[in-house]
Amino acid sequence: MCGIIGCVGRGDATLDTLLGGLANLEYRGYDSAGVALANESVTVEKKAGELDALREAVAGQTLHGSVGIGHTRWSTHGPPTDANAHPHQDCTGDVAVVHNGIIENYQSLRDELAEAGHTFASDTDTEVVPHLIEDALADGADPEDAVRQALSRIEGSYAVAVVVAGVDAVFAAREDSPLVLGVSDGAYYLASDVPAFREHTDRVVYLEDGEFARIDADGFSVSSIDGTPHDVTIDTVDWDPEDTGKSGYDHFMLKEIHEQPRALRQCLQGRVDELGASVSLDLDVDIARVQFVACGTSYHAALYGAGLFRAAGIPAQAFYAHEYALDTPPIEDDLVVGVSQSGETADTLSALREARRRGARTLAVTNVVGSTMSRECDDTLYIRSGPEIGVAASKTFSAQLAALNLLALQTVGAGDEDLREVIAALRDLPGDVQAILDSTTAEEVAEEYVDSDGFFFIGRGANYPVALEGALKLKEISYEHAEGFAAGELKHGTLALVTADTPVFAVVTGNDEAARKTIGNVKEVEARDAPVVAVTDGKSDVARYADHVLEIPETHPRTAAVLANIQLQLVAYHVANALGRSIDKPRNLAKSVTVE
Ligand code: F6R
Repeated sequence: MCGIIGCVGRGDATLDTLLGGLANLEYRGYDSAGVALANESVTVEKKAGELDALREAVAGQTLHGSVGIGHTRWSTHGPPTDANAHPHQDCTGDVAVVHNGIIENYQSLRDELAEAGHTFASDTDTEVVPHLIEDALADGADPEDAVRQALSRIEGSYAVAVVVAGVDAVFAAREDSPLVLGVSDGAYYLASDVPAFREHTDRVVYLEDGEFARIDADGFSVSSIDGTPHDVTIDTVDWDPEDTGKSGYDHFMLKEIHEQPRALRQCLQGRVDELGASVSLDLDVDIARVQFVACGTSYHAALYGAGLFRAAGIPAQAFYAHEYALDTPPIEDDLVVGVSQSGETADTLSALREARRRGARTLAVTNVVGSTMSRECDDTLYIRSGPEIGVAASKTFSAQLAALNLLALQTVGAGDEDLREVIAALRDLPGDVQAILDSTTAEEVAEEYVDSDGFFFIGRGANYPVALEGALKLKEISYEHAEGFAAGELKHGTLALVTADTPVFAVVTGNDEAARKTIGNVKEVEARDAPVVAVTDGKSDVARYADHVLEIPETHPRTAAVLANIQLQLVAYHVANALGRSIDKPRNLAKSVTVE
């Protein structure tokens, strides 16, 4: 999704600071980028395509200014062209605006402004903002007031940053779209996400919806849009700039796959007591019934989480957040849990807001401290993965599964299972994941099947979300067709697509009824000549029917799903790598989907 950076106090380094900030936001996904620098006038440069196109465009130029804003755009209104890239300007060229989100009443504002003589240079909703500011300035408002007046006319979601010629300040505001302020000695930053300026400071102010910020050489102020001053807290982020580098790996995703032992350790640290067989989260919730809302990979984690609660006898269901908001199920005394890596996914936020509107208590399970979800929900459980830069979720999914285990164990226990054994298995997870990373043959499997016509993934019970996630990971980074199924479902239609050129990845762990039935499904696809790759802990005899085996260490049935997923992440990575795909920034995708 779009990224914003703004800064003051960086002197001659202003342009480099903006370009560096945009590079650090690339992971969010974008299709054009631009910057505006201001002093007595405003200079804008913007280009469709990768950041390198913008770098080339500014290389031969003298862009001066001690304040500036920059933007990476992920198209919503209008295609990714130079004209539609941000910043957008007014008719005089004295105002430049970058914006994330969607202005819902932009068409009526645009008609009104066009009627009054304004000319528009883009198809975007954003462009109405600089023209509204222009009008307010023409009516005599001072620049800060002009920005406030323009914002008061906008309906929808936004994070905006604005520069005005002759003003050594950046103005910004947020409504339903993240914005964070960075504070260091003599320099101040505004961004949609901390990595944009983390190399310059670790001191941050997370802005709230409806807040307006001004940064200038003397400091910063935060107020409501209409000008009432707000007190704010300066937080310190607990990760280092190096945490957002590649550390020698070819891709962020590969680095993040390899960071999973650490991510899991961090998630569990101080929360499980193996001797006392207890879990202690800094969380005080009772759960009689639970509804999960989430999207994409987080939805797969939610499906897994719902299974944990049902296993303990608690009514639990996972919903796609976008469906939940439209077709909300009856809420009794349900806790509504939003699972979201970013904590900013618009669909999940809407579902949680609907649940709150109906009186439900809400809990966010997220990775991002200070995210909108963590601030809007009654409670938050952090998964503590550290920053994830690759667009495809990897370590955050594993940590979500671990965190949901902790949540279930603390609130409703382990059902018929031995709590001590589950806790021991959770404790062993980081080591077990490391063992897989050290011994995996996923790359060979990927090389063998890279030219296949399609890929199927099957699993039952806790392995069903793993099958879904295996398919999602493969399709999003390799662009190959892949589908995940509850193992019993394949024969109800999709079996027609199974051929000798469609490998089937079967996740079979343990040797219970689910495993035995899945092996039955494996035999069905084998009879149709499909190659079979079994992901297994070796407890069943699935290997006998498989062309390849991806092994996982023996573990508890609950944690087997976490381990099996690691092998499928690696298969997806190696298939995508063999095909030369843009693994960290897959086409059309964004890290944080802040539109519905
Ligand atoms: C896939 C992926 C997406 C996200 C989904 C929800 O690898 O990352 O499917 O899981 O967009 O995002 P969050 O978890 O931020 O709510």
